Amino acid sequence: MDKIRIRGGARLKGTIPISGAKNATLPLMAAAFLTDAPLTLTNVPKLRDVAFMADILRGLGVSAEWTDGCALGAGGRYVLHAAHLSGTAADYDIVRKMRASFFILGPLLARAGEARISLPGGCAIGARPVDLHLKALAALGAEVDLSEGNVVARASRGLTGAKIKFPLVSVGATECALMAATLAKGQSVIHNAAREPEIADLGRCLIAMGAKIDGLGTSTVTVEGVSSLSAATHAVLPDRIETGTYAMAVAIAGGEVELIGTDVKLIEALAKLLGKSGVAVTPTPAGFVVARNGVCPRAVSMETQPFPGFPTDLQAQFMAFMATAEGSSHIKETIFENRFMHVPELLRMGADIKIDGNVAVVKGVARLKGAPVMATDLRASSSLVLAGLAAEGETVVNRVYHLDRGFERMEEKLSGVGAEIERVQG
Ligand code: UD1
Repeated sequence: MDKIRIRGGARLKGTIPISGAKNATLPLMAAAFLTDAPLTLTNVPKLRDVAFMADILRGLGVSAEWTDGCALGAGGRYVLHAAHLSGTAADYDIVRKMRASFFILGPLLARAGEARISLPGGCAIGARPVDLHLKALAALGAEVDLSEGNVVARASRGLTGAKIKFPLVSVGATECALMAATLAKGQSVIHNAAREPEIADLGRCLIAMGAKIDGLGTSTVTVEGVSSLSAATHAVLPDRIETGTYAMAVAIAGGEVELIGTDVKLIEALAKLLGKSGVAVTPTPAGFVVARNGVCPRAVSMETQPFPGFPTDLQAQFMAFMATAEGSSHIKETIFENRFMHVPELLRMGADIKIDGNVAVVKGVARLKGAPVMATDLRASSSLVLAGLAAEGETVVNRVYHLDRGFERMEEKLSGVGAEIERVQG
């Protein structure tokens, strides 16, 4: 398995192109089930999770073709066409590899009148139930049963619009309800909908396909069902998690870098904290500049929250940053119950972190020390790369598999701004 080797201490200077968002691309790909016409997505990142989702779609008869090359940061053009479905079932062997594959349930049910998908089970960052996805589909009139570890959902006479009130904010369940409701008969109102930008992006694509949706970006989304959707072309929005990760790479390593093809509005909660810690963030026509020149960053506390709050997917990276800041910070994880797995690895690099329930108390140290480390999930892996940029000596991040799931050519983007980082083929 490949590794990433980093020699810490280099300041970063130059530009980093930001790719399209993984977490928008995956549900957008699932939306291809909603029509028998082609769906063309542009600015698609070339990631392992995207390739994996394409395999799932192909297994059910959907064609998925790249129609152009993919220069670094340029984004690919992906044409998905579900002209005829060859099946309606996705097995455990497929779903266990990527939890987001469960997102095909709603659109597949809406299109085919039935769907059978293995329950995803737990994952490294917690139990992650799917009860809210199932309740939303049941509210829309589906019969939902569990059989031998599979969810079997049926709506032979189609779905019917309904009021769906989520007891807690869920990105995936909101996307599931939104996609399914587009083809339901009548009006659906989704209350307590998640407001993540990826949901509005999905909504914009569905509207381009002919869906009638109001309230995107708010917590009440209204959908007037239509009888069919048609062909569309949609550009995937920039990846705010990649954006935030590189902003923190500059914060931790020092230097001045322009992140291009993105927007600071996508990471406002982080930008405010960067400002408080002494890192300058300045919008530009192409994106924004992050600069930390000379000053030692100050510790600031934060807690993760649904959008527009601080994203859980940036918590691990923020902790690596705080591990080298001056003073103490409290980092509270409120979304997932087991998302501090980067902590033992950061401790091995000399960080001073104590866990108390869902709060990590981080005391900044003058210098982290390079070490061989291993990550068990995607965002944790990126936090170790960031720590490596600031550490004295060499850090080797093992199991780069996780990183490749969600960051497009991270080592190329970072070496392009002067980091001493390389991939070692394993
Ligand atoms: C999505 C993102 C993931 C991000 C997360 C939170 C994708 C592909 N993944 O995951 O990167 O970390 O949002 O921003 O977009 N929950 C339930 N029942 C459900 C569904 C969720 O109890 O049916 C709980 C979860 O356990 C969690 C919370 O709701 O505690 C939020 O999870 P959710 O927003 O659904 O995350 P995902 O959509 O899985």
